Amino acid sequence: MNRLNSSEFIYLTDTHLGADPIGYYQQYSYNKSFTEIIAALKTWIIDNGNIDFILHGGDIIDQTSEANIDLAKKEFSDLPVPLYLCLGNHDLTAINSLNTWLVNAENFFMDNKPCFCLENDLYAVHVMPSYWCETPYYWDREEQNVNFSDEQIQSLEKNLLKYSDKKVQILLTHSPVFGLSAEQTGFDEPYHETKEKYVDIILEIVKRHSSLKVVLGAHNHMNMHLQRSNTHFVTASSFSETPFEFKHFKINENGISMSTISLLKNINFIADYDFNKTYVQGRPCDRAFEEMF
Ligand SMILES: [Fe+2]
Repeated sequence: MNRLNSSEFIYLTDTHLGADPIGYYQQYSYNKSFTEIIAALKTWIIDNGNIDFILHGGDIIDQTSEANIDLAKKEFSDLPVPLYLCLGNHDLTAINSLNTWLVNAENFFMDNKPCFCLENDLYAVHVMPSYWCETPYYWDREEQNVNFSDEQIQSLEKNLLKYSDKKVQILLTHSPVFGLSAEQTGFDEPYHETKEKYVDIILEIVKRHSSLKVVLGAHNHMNMHLQRSNTHFVTASSFSETPFEFKHFKINENGISMSTISLLKNINFIADYDFNKTYVQGRPCDRAFEEMF
């Protein structure tokens, strides 16, 4: 992560490994064929040649257990780049989930902490999992009272100031900020919106830090991109669901770009697709952006 002039990384999410049956989904899930999907990703990364790391947006597994964590480690172990994880609600379904993660999968985190920062000369990525209820790092499978602790916010603010001279700062948190617009879905109202209080918290942070150019979310299993003032808000479809998409970010001294890549043509099995839900993949503007500094 120390190249001076450019950097590339992959953002993928919501793999729900170990789900049987799958609970929430948008398109058909092939998490049971994940080994083949990962093999296609590995080939893509090797062919691309410039990827520094993978960011996983959370719900890497479907429920917390050592067996599922081992499965996640095994599935991502053969990639030529490291993977860093922002814990999602499905990763936190037991009271002691955080400890189980840190003891069993320390390589998915930095400094053995769930909130951490990846930085190089060009940018800083702040990983900050949200809380889902009063108990930190726990989801009871019901409550979605998304929030951050005061300590998390203070630490993020401190790090955003520390790295304010970077070309780009990126925040990754599992819970998305915005829902999908009616223009994207064709529905009467925005779809899969988040509680106002959480949105306000993020928007206040964004307002205070002009170098915070991207906020990455997950959880909804749908591609979304919109720009509010200076910042791009992005969510991604599930990497386990057809058509097996991820985001490819490129950052250099002149700008930042994001594209959405599908591995559908690179896998060896036939995958069904629900053509009534093409909004999951989105329009070109929901899937890509480029901004010059
Ligand atoms: Fe989630």
